[in-house]
Amino acid sequence: MLLPVFAVLTLFAGSAVAECPFKYQKPDDLGHTVDKYPQTPDGSSKKGIFYMNRISPGGSRLYVANSDGSNMKPLESNKTAGFDLHPSWSPDGQWVVFTSERRGDGQADIYRIKSDGTELNTLVQTDAFDDAGTISPDGTKLAYVSTLGNFTTNIWVKDLRTGQTHNLTDTAATRGDPASPQGHFRPAWSPDSEWIAFSSDRNTDWTGHSNGTGWEHTQTLSIYAIRPNGSDFRRVVSKPGYSLGTPQWSPDGRRILFNVVRTEDTYNAHGISSSVARVTGQVASVDFHTGRDIVVYTSGDHLKVGQHWIGNSSNIGYLIKGGDNEGINYTLPDSTHSAFNLTYLRDPSWSPDGTKLVFEVLSWDVRSAGKQLFSWDEEWEYRFIDTFPLLSNTTGRIALTEKQLGNSSVITSTGNLTDQIDSFDVYKVWSSKNKTNEEWVETGTGGAFQPTWNQDGSQIAVGLGVWFAGRNDDTGTIYLANTTGNGFQDLTKTPSTLNAGFPSFSPSGNKLVYRLWDVTSQSPLGLRILDLETGRTTNLTTGWDNTPGWSPDGERIVFTRQVNWTTEYGSRWYADRFDIMTIRPDGSDLTRIPDSLANDAHAVWSYDGRILWSSGQYAFRDECILYDQTFQPYGQIMVMDADGSNKRLLTDSMWEDSMPMYLPKDAL
Ligand SMILES: *[C@@H]1O[C@H](CO)[C@@H](O)[C@H](O)[C@H]1NC(C)=O
Ligand SMILES: *[C@@H]1O[C@H](CO)[C@@H](O)[C@H](O)[C@H]1NC(C)=O
Ligand SMILES: *[C@@H]1O[C@H](CO)[C@@H](O)[C@H](O)[C@H]1NC(C)=O
Ligand SMILES: *[C@@H]1O[C@H](CO)[C@@H](O)[C@H](O)[C@H]1NC(C)=O
Ligand SMILES: *[C@@H]1O[C@H](CO)[C@@H](O)[C@H](O)[C@H]1NC(C)=O
Ligand SMILES: *[C@@H]1O[C@H](CO)[C@@H](O)[C@H](O)[C@H]1NC(C)=O
Ligand SMILES: *[C@@H]1O[C@H](CO)[C@@H](O)[C@H](O)[C@H]1NC(C)=O
Ligand SMILES: *[C@@H]1O[C@H](CO)[C@@H](O)[C@H](O)[C@H]1NC(C)=O
Ligand SMILES: *[C@@H]1O[C@H](CO)[C@@H](O)[C@H](O)[C@H]1NC(C)=O
Ligand SMILES: *[C@@H]1O[C@H](CO)[C@@H](O)[C@H](O)[C@H]1NC(C)=O
Ligand SMILES: *[C@@H]1O[C@H](CO)[C@@H](O)[C@H](O)[C@H]1NC(C)=O
Ligand SMILES: *[C@@H]1O[C@H](CO)[C@@H](O)[C@H](O)[C@H]1NC(C)=O
Repeated sequence: MLLPVFAVLTLFAGSAVAECPFKYQKPDDLGHTVDKYPQTPDGSSKKGIFYMNRISPGGSRLYVANSDGSNMKPLESNKTAGFDLHPSWSPDGQWVVFTSERRGDGQADIYRIKSDGTELNTLVQTDAFDDAGTISPDGTKLAYVSTLGNFTTNIWVKDLRTGQTHNLTDTAATRGDPASPQGHFRPAWSPDSEWIAFSSDRNTDWTGHSNGTGWEHTQTLSIYAIRPNGSDFRRVVSKPGYSLGTPQWSPDGRRILFNVVRTEDTYNAHGISSSVARVTGQVASVDFHTGRDIVVYTSGDHLKVGQHWIGNSSNIGYLIKGGDNEGINYTLPDSTHSAFNLTYLRDPSWSPDGTKLVFEVLSWDVRSAGKQLFSWDEEWEYRFIDTFPLLSNTTGRIALTEKQLGNSSVITSTGNLTDQIDSFDVYKVWSSKNKTNEEWVETGTGGAFQPTWNQDGSQIAVGLGVWFAGRNDDTGTIYLANTTGNGFQDLTKTPSTLNAGFPSFSPSGNKLVYRLWDVTSQSPLGLRILDLETGRTTNLTTGWDNTPGWSPDGERIVFTRQVNWTTEYGSRWYADRFDIMTIRPDGSDLTRIPDSLANDAHAVWSYDGRILWSSGQYAFRDECILYDQTFQPYGQIMVMDADGSNKRLLTDSMWEDSMPMYLPKDAL
């Protein structure tokens, strides 16, 4: 089975998750060798390197084929790498409009190209996320999605003659409740160019999967319509407990086609392949004017997405996502419109005459460490890195958990990723012949997570154990290891009824803060501080707390808390609310950094005493069931001062971005 990587924010995964959707990928599973560290980041022309992790496919390429899958060819024959996504055929049949990250890994703009692969033009180019472009039937306008202006996805219209753009969904008449998700996705023109239909999760709650007990959010979409001048905004159809996506108009403009999936299933629909294969979703239509008369066209197993009416006919083509039947199917197959299988085919769009099909196919190469990414902050060079990177300010070396590119062991290296040392190999404690241990590593549920440097950089502490939902079944304990890899010891000797992990050293190196979990009651015990000189452990907090980090000046500890939880709730919570907190090491001055109702989590200190974290507050960037092998595609990286002021977004991609670390030039 292919990929799954690492869900960064998912350290708090809900107790009700039966199967943990995180899998470590052996590079050789891909059938080729990934050169783990081919690039040596420099960063000297900037303030330094901004390292970060991204969970996404390794690439995506566009193909054109006949409607039965025959004669499949790359749209741009000379393009082999990068991300080209979300194609739509122009109504005159000449162009394919698509999203591309060709300006830099993670940075999406909108282009068009003739369907024979010639004449590439740029349609929308901003440093925001620009996506899902579609040309009006009268050929004068482009409707698209952009996060320009306030980081959430709005529907925009560009006049292709004047170049003028305006948004439709952040106006006084249309703006939703700012405390709610604010996503607007997949615009579609009516045949007379008078209306734009789209999907949106506006005014819904931030709700975890597994009936609210899970940590990753579900998505509840309804279908809306608006005129391109911004008037006559209305909701066309919704269904309580279900998500309705990807509207498409009938050839006569009277009906709107959409997909329907249970809100609960919107999470598994973008997880690992085996979860996707179990999801069921159907294709239906509704009368546009009345919002009634729902007709369902498909039945049975499988998730169906990417639905379109074919040409002027009543035949509907769609994508079966996941499982053995993944590929294209038709409600009324004929000699030229017949089903075909193709793994990781996504976003089909048919030519106006229904004879041809354009789509993307995803690939899953893992990015090599140090790979250059698009820099949203021009003062810093953005580069990809594996998980839990941490700088030793004494030696200028970094420690990290090699999760996407290794077996969840700790390596240390220079800031430019040279001189790597296996500082703590999980298989020095676990046995590579023990099936349970091997499965923890292979599925990514266990390993050596969150290394932390001691004062002089000669040792690291790290949690070795089983994390995510696995913390309810197995132990975790904290190891101290020499960075040379020549020795280690179990520091906390945690009993099997408890799970200790996610340590952080005080700058002086004589104390260690970590989080403790009760395996038996499946509930949190808060943060603990171990004094390495006296051997005494004290209770710092008693909340649903994790990923503590000691500030460089020693004054505060930052951590993430599920703020809806109290001890009476036991092993679950009743609202999906995580926020960043800070506290003094003596337990005084507990401070919540006020933020969104979305999840804000996984905070770390920057070298200069600011706080970096992952936030879901700008919401999904696409209909979530259309993603693959990812867990929180709304995660973006933010930075703020330690008191919560000067918040800034540092990424604006469609992917799950996390695990940030500034590496200033003088540490290189
Ligand atoms: C690749 O194809 C694009 C679009 O057809 C074209 O603009 C470009 O010049 C081609 N590049 C090369 C190197 O052939
Ligand atoms: C959207 O348009 C409205 C009305 O023109 C404007 O007030 C608002 O600032 C725009 N929003 C964004 C994000 O540009
Ligand atoms: C988006 O930006 C507009 C101003 O351009 C603002 O009025 C609106 O509240 C913003 N929306 C959110 C969700 O921040
Ligand atoms: C959610 O709640 C329903 C109704 O109580 C129950 O049937 C279902 O099993 C629950 N699902 C999960 C994943 O907890
Ligand atoms: C494909 O479509 C045909 C005809 O509509 C239908 O009978 C068949 O069940 C579909 N296949 C799958 C795997 O859903
Ligand atoms: C797709 O693959 C499945 C499983 O191998 C097979 O049962 C099915 O017939 C195939 N469908 C088509 C259209 O080839
Ligand atoms: C395999 O590892 C697990 C977890 O560490 C342990 O409980 C079990 O006893 C081990 N099995 C053997 C045969 O050593
Ligand atoms: C680190 O190395 C030193 C010197 O070889 C050794 O005495 C010590 O026990 C090691 N530390 C650990 C934690 O194994
Ligand atoms: C610390 O927490 C434990 C539960 O893990 C509790 O039994 C103990 O009483 C607490 N100690 C103090 C001093 O509050
Ligand atoms: C490392 O951090 C400590 C504690 O804040 C500070 O005193 C020291 O100057 C820092 N060292 C370097 C090289 O930045
Ligand atoms: C947790 O959420 C539930 C449901 O929204 C709410 O009733 C309750 O007051 C919240 N509790 C806390 C402590 O925030
Ligand atoms: C990498 O970093 C090390 C240590 O800072 C330095 O000695 C070396 O020259 C750097 N290598 C390159 C290729 O920049």
